[in-house]
Amino acid sequence: MERRERWHSKLGLILATAGNAVGLGNILRFPSKAALYGGGAFMVPYFIAFFLMGLPLMIIEWVIGRYAGRHGHGSMTGILGLFFNHASWARVLGSIGVAIPLLICMYYIYIESWTLGFAFLSLFGEIPTPIKSSDTQEAVKPYVNFFREYTKPSVIAYLFLILTIAINWFILQRGVRRGIEITAKIGMPAIIIFGLFLGLICLSAGNWKGLEGLKFIYNLNFSRITDPVVWIEAAGQIFFTLSLGMGAIAAYASYVYPREDVVKAGIWTAGINEFVEVVIGASIAIPAAFAMFSALAIPELAKEGTFRLGFMTMPAILMSFPFGKIIAFVWFLLLFFAALTSSLALIQPLIALFEDEMKWEHKKAVNISMILVTIGAHFSAFIPNFIDELDFWAGCFLLLFFGLIEIVVFIWVFGIDNFYKELTMNTTIKLPKFFVYIMATVSPLFIVFIIYFWIIKDFENIVFTTEPTKLFARGFILLFILFLSIIAIKSRTIIMKDIRYLKLIKK
Ligand code: PHE
Repeated sequence: MERRERWHSKLGLILATAGNAVGLGNILRFPSKAALYGGGAFMVPYFIAFFLMGLPLMIIEWVIGRYAGRHGHGSMTGILGLFFNHASWARVLGSIGVAIPLLICMYYIYIESWTLGFAFLSLFGEIPTPIKSSDTQEAVKPYVNFFREYTKPSVIAYLFLILTIAINWFILQRGVRRGIEITAKIGMPAIIIFGLFLGLICLSAGNWKGLEGLKFIYNLNFSRITDPVVWIEAAGQIFFTLSLGMGAIAAYASYVYPREDVVKAGIWTAGINEFVEVVIGASIAIPAAFAMFSALAIPELAKEGTFRLGFMTMPAILMSFPFGKIIAFVWFLLLFFAALTSSLALIQPLIALFEDEMKWEHKKAVNISMILVTIGAHFSAFIPNFIDELDFWAGCFLLLFFGLIEIVVFIWVFGIDNFYKELTMNTTIKLPKFFVYIMATVSPLFIVFIIYFWIIKDFENIVFTTEPTKLFARGFILLFILFLSIIAIKSRTIIMKDIRYLKLIKK
């Protein structure tokens, strides 16, 4: 068996996985969701979901990733296979865990390209100049029009999409250590510095009126506690922001040395991600909007779409500050770095699938993966509703579903004792066994409840549609899963041959 790559250093590995988790989810998706679902009312289910489900699953994925890496697998296809003697059905099920990140990447990378495009346009003064108005609609209007023109997509937007794809392609081609790790070592510190800088600017805006926005988020209350939609959105956000329920963390963890302390690494990853989300992410978009407009404007602005707050409201506000162009440039650059370190992580599971299961060489694995991403990104750019459909199904629903499968397989099927042995191997943080029982029972029950209530309440509204573009997006999702399933089954013979060979030389 060929040797798999390894992270170069402990710091590099933590920064890479933090870069994996920290992304547009922290700086755009989080404030949009918080604004849409009532600020402090959203944060209660959010924190509960973090502790009951996010943190445990983060540790589970790290532990299993290291275990699977030792056995030569980094993608969910191989990892689930590992637990069932590489039965075809298990490998097919695992393929869903490879499909999810790639489907997300197909729209994520397009949004990433907007951030790069808008960064350049801000710097060169090509973004509309602000109108002085206290009327939100009025003030944001030029930016709404600009954004609509841009995302049609315009020629410039298309060029930036190609450029963004090329950057990802180039970095992934250099591999885990020389590509992803180095990018994270530059990107993560930049994200934190730019983020703190912008947070300070937005909080202090309008004579510290921005603080009102922070209060809106941290005025924890139970007013929406019985609303299943808020629960599913909060839980979905936890999965999305921590990159859980799709094997993206496990894929990165599969490149550690067996002696690595994965519990510590998991806690660091979750900790850094939450810092960038609930401290930095909370201090930028919403406070800026509060400082500029009235509180009433917030949900209205957030309704425009999950990620779009950042491209219309934010430039309208930032451009009206002194040195507005530069501040807007820093904002978009921050988003770009955050997005880049995440899009790499969304593609790596598929590369791992091709390398570990099909035994393709690195170059070919990256090229085929990137061709698939490029096709999907074109659909995102040119087919209406494609982004939102993928964001809902891959970026929310399937994550919960697959997260549940992960817990059942990695704890119940693997066995509580086996899992505990793996968990406590080479770590200085000795979690009590009680913790594994919580992981094994409370976390999956929590997910089941959320899916159940959501199905009762909202299933019909969301699922039934005759809109052709939405149906196209769904058809595409199914087809893609089918494609990966075929690969999972075909590659099984290669893996079985390997296993037989290993047994033979052991004798
Ligand atoms: N966690 C990333 C974000 O917050 C998104 C992501 C999900 C990245 C899964 C990689 C894997 O933006």
